[in-house]
Amino acid sequence: MPTRVLVTGGAGFIGANFIEYALQTHPDWHITNLDKLTYAGFLENVQPFQAVFADRYHFVHGDVCDGPLVLQLVAESDLIVHFAAESNVDLSIGDAVAFLDTNIYGTRNLLEACRQHPVQRLLVVSTDEVYGNAWQDRPSLESDPLMPCSPYAASKAALDVLAFSYFETYGLPVVRTRCSNNYGPRQDPTKLIPRFLLHALHDQPLPIYGHGHNTRDWIYVQDHCRAIDAVLHAPDSVHGQVFNVGADSEHSVLTISDLILDALHKPTTLMSHVPDRLGHVRRHAVNSELLQRTLGWHPETTFEAGIAQTIAWYQQNPDWWQAVVKAQSQRLPNYAAVYQFPAWFKSV
Ligand SMILES: NC(=O)c1ccc[n+]([C@@H]2O[C@H](COP(=O)([O-])OP(=O)(O)OC[C@H]3O[C@@H](n4cnc5c(N)ncnc54)[C@H](O)[C@@H]3O)[C@@H](O)[C@H]2O)c1
Repeated sequence: MPTRVLVTGGAGFIGANFIEYALQTHPDWHITNLDKLTYAGFLENVQPFQAVFADRYHFVHGDVCDGPLVLQLVAESDLIVHFAAESNVDLSIGDAVAFLDTNIYGTRNLLEACRQHPVQRLLVVSTDEVYGNAWQDRPSLESDPLMPCSPYAASKAALDVLAFSYFETYGLPVVRTRCSNNYGPRQDPTKLIPRFLLHALHDQPLPIYGHGHNTRDWIYVQDHCRAIDAVLHAPDSVHGQVFNVGADSEHSVLTISDLILDALHKPTTLMSHVPDRLGHVRRHAVNSELLQRTLGWHPETTFEAGIAQTIAWYQQNPDWWQAVVKAQSQRLPNYAAVYQFPAWFKSV
């Protein structure tokens, strides 16, 4: 019997990478991808594996807030990986409504559907942003208090603890992951690394918020996909647990700018400091020893290798980022101004 897997948000950055990884790794998996195709979801992300795995991959254009649809899809599933989210911190600072709807109400729909139609496991993808600023002397632990600093992070903290409450109250087989900052192929150009490398490729200034010393723990998206796979295959004793996922690879925005400019042989004069983001967190970093000790997962890609692979992917896939920039500029108001793309995106 095939394993029927429902992936939500699989036309986004991490979801698409995960589906491709899972289809290649598990020949017995049949995957349904439920995605609303917001400004962050693109059919271009799924096209590469859609044709190759046509017999095991199925796309459903829909909303996690659509209760009857979610109920129907959950009834046909054994495993669920819940990525779908409003995930753009900048946009959540402008207006949080969609973040509360999708992230909290959409997750509640999935949880309720799992009460009616039991599944083997529901993996809820949370984020390290729920911790707020990491303690100065150490990365965040799973037991640390949740102190989210943006409306996005607050909505993720809400869905994270809501999922836990369904484990406690109803015994649902829920497990949560809190991953650090991802980068790699197919990340949309509003996010820091693709944005900087596309600006650099076009000899445009790299807009650095504030002083640029803020740090994040950066993980290559493939390592995150393997971590999710490990959690999905863990024994039932993980139900109710939460696992941090990080690569122990902390870098400041200035370091990343340097690395990208250096790799593309561009001058450091392209670095340009702009006013800081509201509520900007100084440091995100997680301790993922629990995951490493319990499930034997380890990150495999160094930051330098991951950045080189990411740059190469964007250089080899101009059709992808041109289509994505075009689609995003139509879906997001003030896109060009907010993301400072005007000089080159007009020619796309
Ligand atoms: N990107 C990171 O660094 C990072 C780190 C930790 C955790 N996460 C979490 O991982 C998940 C995926 O992140 P990402 O970077 O791939 O996000 P993304 O924004 O690239 O993709 C989100 C996807 O969800 C879809 N979506 C949005 N609202 C929906 C709705 N109502 N119904 C159905 N689909 C909907 C979008 O169309 C898009 O395809 C999110 O839950 C995010 O919070 C991301």
